[in-house]
Amino acid sequence: MAPHFVSNSSEAAPPKAAHAWPWWRAPNRLRTDWRGQRVWLIGASSGIGAALATELVGRGARVVLSARSEDALQDVAARALKAASSAAEGETLVVAFDATEPDAWARARQTVTSAWGGVDVLVMCAGAYTPMRAWDIDITTMSHIIDVNLRSVYLGLQSNLSDFRARGNGAVVLVASVAGLVGLPNATVYGPTKAALINLAELLHSDVRAAGIDVYLVNPGFVRTKLTEKNAFVMPALLTPEQAAQAMLAGMAAGQFSIHFPKRFTLWLYALRHLPDRLRLAIVRRFTAAPESDAEVLPTTPPDVKTRPAP
Ligand SMILES: NC(=O)c1ccc[n+]([C@@H]2O[C@H](COP(=O)([O-])OP(=O)(O)OC[C@H]3O[C@@H](n4cnc5c(N)ncnc54)[C@H](OP(=O)(O)O)[C@@H]3O)[C@@H](O)[C@H]2O)c1
Repeated sequence: MAPHFVSNSSEAAPPKAAHAWPWWRAPNRLRTDWRGQRVWLIGASSGIGAALATELVGRGARVVLSARSEDALQDVAARALKAASSAAEGETLVVAFDATEPDAWARARQTVTSAWGGVDVLVMCAGAYTPMRAWDIDITTMSHIIDVNLRSVYLGLQSNLSDFRARGNGAVVLVASVAGLVGLPNATVYGPTKAALINLAELLHSDVRAAGIDVYLVNPGFVRTKLTEKNAFVMPALLTPEQAAQAMLAGMAAGQFSIHFPKRFTLWLYALRHLPDRLRLAIVRRFTAAPESDAEVLPTTPPDVKTRPAP
């Protein structure tokens, strides 16, 4: 775990607070100016996190890049600084650690605090996904996915929220998935972890918004990353990680709570979520699961059905 300083930038002024009422106002502050904002990005070594780090550094943010692979983080940091214009004054700090370990969080936080005095925005973007049918649960894989997708988020909150509350300022970004909106085959473990994050983000917003802390929930559709590269089918409305990062920042600039993209895909899942049970379950089964004839009879040996894994 080695801190990596690159350049200096001035202290950031906190964004203007959003009003809680009337209800139609933006639920979060409008984050349009990232210059000098200290962002701790967990899951920054690849995919959406790496693209977000690059985009943020380009907009002048000071980004702590965290994940387990230090070499990959150093590469992302170097590429981000190279891509940023010299006027951006973005800065990076690489702090490699395993976000599922409480002791590792304590050490990482110590490193970040001694380097930059704290952070303004915590982005929980680490994720793990392995397709798994309900009758085929592998205990080790199940525990790993829950640890990375959910436990790490609680550890991140435990590590940072007290500080945000004490300062009356801060932001938490939880990267969930539209797979948490509807129960989809193959997302036996992944889907429930993302559903939990959706619930957690909502209760967090109620719990800490009054203390000056913004909470953003990010539900991406399909994005081309290491996580989805095992999918052997054509993923609908597939985005690049760069497009995903830009969509996230556009949502935060608008002060949104639920930030989901691309809308041409995610709106269908939001709509599906609100359909009556019979219709929703039938649609999901029709488009994702085994043919009707297989589904009616519970097989003792599951058929080798081709299903659509979740984003
Ligand atoms: N790609 C999609 O279509 C899609 C759709 C919806 C939601 N999402 C969500 O978006 C987030 C980013 O996923 P991605 O698609 O960009 O996947 P990715 O490229 O595989 O990135 C996952 C990141 O998580 C980090 N990570 C994994 N385990 C970790 C641990 N124990 N401690 C610290 N960091 C850890 C990885 O780094 P190390 O391996 O170096 O630790 C990597 O930086 C995930 O939460 C994912 O569920 C993705």
